Amino acid sequence: MTENGRKPRGNGHPSIHLLEPVASTRYPKGSSQHAGIKFVHPSEAEFARILDFYRIKWIYEPRSFPLRWDGDRVTEMFTPDFYLPGLDTYVELTTMKQSLVTKKNRKLRELRELYPEVNIRLLYRRDYQSLLAKYGYRAITPTTLEDIDHVLLSAEEIQRRVDDLAEQINRDYAGLELWLVGILKGVAPFMTDLMRKLTMPVHVDYMFVTKYTRDGSESDAVRILKDLDHPIEGVHLLMVEDIVDTGFTLRYILNYLRARKPASLKVCTLLDKRARRLVDQPLDYVAFEIPDEYVVGYGLDHRELYRNLPFVCVLKPEAYRP
Ligand code: IMP
Ligand code: MG
Repeated sequence: MTENGRKPRGNGHPSIHLLEPVASTRYPKGSSQHAGIKFVHPSEAEFARILDFYRIKWIYEPRSFPLRWDGDRVTEMFTPDFYLPGLDTYVELTTMKQSLVTKKNRKLRELRELYPEVNIRLLYRRDYQSLLAKYGYRAITPTTLEDIDHVLLSAEEIQRRVDDLAEQINRDYAGLELWLVGILKGVAPFMTDLMRKLTMPVHVDYMFVTKYTRDGSESDAVRILKDLDHPIEGVHLLMVEDIVDTGFTLRYILNYLRARKPASLKVCTLLDKRARRLVDQPLDYVAFEIPDEYVVGYGLDHRELYRNLPFVCVLKPEAYRP
């Protein structure tokens, strides 16, 4: 024991933590989600909301680290505010009081000395953004951020599912050449992420179609703005879509492709809004089934905006009003 009461490193104590993780990892949405958790400070509740918005998993005050001992009795502990499992990082929010910041800095220094394997970050308000930037959210300008109600699928979740699908496709088409036909424009990010994970020889082609809507009513009329560049007779063709909604677009394109006699024809879609299906179309690969909500991001647009967002999100109703 050193004279200031600190335990020197390496004698066993640092691995002890007195409190086991209590709060469960949660993914709530909306604003009344923290009913079960008593945040010590309003800024913590705010930070939790930001994390929820981005669907970043968090645990509140998961663990206490003993910092000082008197014999075997712990005399000082440090309990970081949050743990982010996805980043394997503890986060401590700072208050505005300089006196407390100094004390926290001291505790943090001691924690890092005693537990060098632990990642911890002291976050000032202005640091929120740079932490979130790690998740690839730099593309959001403050204006479009305001239009977003909540993130439905995070960039991380999307990438994981793209990996799963690619693995499945690699298995199913092993030993074959595959022709991917993407339906523009919404499919662009999904298509490029997917194709980079495929291991067989791959050909890539695109069609660009638009859906006619008359008086806002659904119809099965589809117009081809860009046709295939190459004949597809006798090839193994996988059509790639961003979203299947009513199914009209898909049915039209499938009939169109089938008439060109590929050896096989399957469908892969990022999103399946099954609740809205009007014409039944079998889907071979579906990354996510989503509820009946209008979504944007990761290729999907509202009036050509939001395609560049790395996640899929639901807009606030106000964002639709002219
Ligand atoms: P379907 O013919 O009704 O299946 O429509 C499919 C097309 O509608 C997609 O390729 C999209 O361009 C568009 N679409 C349907 N739902 C959404 C949505 O929630 N967000 C953005 N575009 C959508
Ligand atoms: Mg569209």
